[in-house]
Amino acid sequence: MTAEIISGTEIRKEILAEIKQEVEEMKAKYGRGPGLVTILVGSSPASISYVTLKVKTALSVGFHEIQDDQPEDISEADLLALIDKYNNDPTIDGILVQLPLPKHIDDKKVLDAIHPDKDVDAFHPVNVGRLMIGGDAVRFLPCTPAGIQEMIVRSGTETSGAEVVVVGRSNIVGKPIAMMMAQKGIGANATVTIVHTRTKDLAGHCKRADILIVAAGVPDLVKPEWIKPGATVIDVGVNRVGMNEKTGKAILKGDVDFEKAKEIAGKITPVPGGVGPMTIAMLMKNTLTSAKKTLGAA
Ligand code: GUN
Repeated sequence: MTAEIISGTEIRKEILAEIKQEVEEMKAKYGRGPGLVTILVGSSPASISYVTLKVKTALSVGFHEIQDDQPEDISEADLLALIDKYNNDPTIDGILVQLPLPKHIDDKKVLDAIHPDKDVDAFHPVNVGRLMIGGDAVRFLPCTPAGIQEMIVRSGTETSGAEVVVVGRSNIVGKPIAMMMAQKGIGANATVTIVHTRTKDLAGHCKRADILIVAAGVPDLVKPEWIKPGATVIDVGVNRVGMNEKTGKAILKGDVDFEKAKEIAGKITPVPGGVGPMTIAMLMKNTLTSAKKTLGAA
């Protein structure tokens, strides 16, 4: 039987429509909507295209959006001063500094300078700690893991007591999603295993998974025979494997052999159109949450 496809493109639409509705209500009740500043340093084409999409999405849901582009040679001190300005700006609920930054700037110093209550990427150590504590301590969840959890919930996959195997241990996906799935709560209460490059029997662990989350960055790493029949498979990999000569666009492949895996899995995310589109939607959700908390509406 062919798996049900979990479409990030469709779920994103639903989430953005929900956010737009809440923003309208917030504006009517409090006289303002959420405010997001996106800070782009330099002119890397990939960063420009990500930031442009973030700005466009923020405007589409009715946010107050400031696009603050800075030259490649901005000093670290000037960038820190800019962040401080937005930390103290009451119209701004979320500050996003697009990564990577130029080599002369210390990424960590910059991310740590963002006020944790405006850190809508959830990269600040305070937010990482809050995630670990769980429950009411959490203000923001990191965007990609939050998108994964949302897809699992909205696809109707049972997580309570489920065996979840996470392939990959990065700070932005593997580690946080593993912790989130193990917490008490909706879309959680799972038994979680993290596997990585030093794991002895990768295939054996994957075969046990009711929910398999793959964030390794290796095209087609997960073979179809590693998938438990009926499992939910979330493929976080976005690997550029070539160029389409007609369109000039990169050919993208996930970490899972999708064509074969979809004949075994119960539910599966495609690449592209799976986890990717969810990340920006969750950034918008975090910015809305921040505004709601600041206004005392949540
Ligand atoms: N660069 C690539 N992905 C991201 C992201 O999620 N947040 C930020 N701030 N920069 C990025």
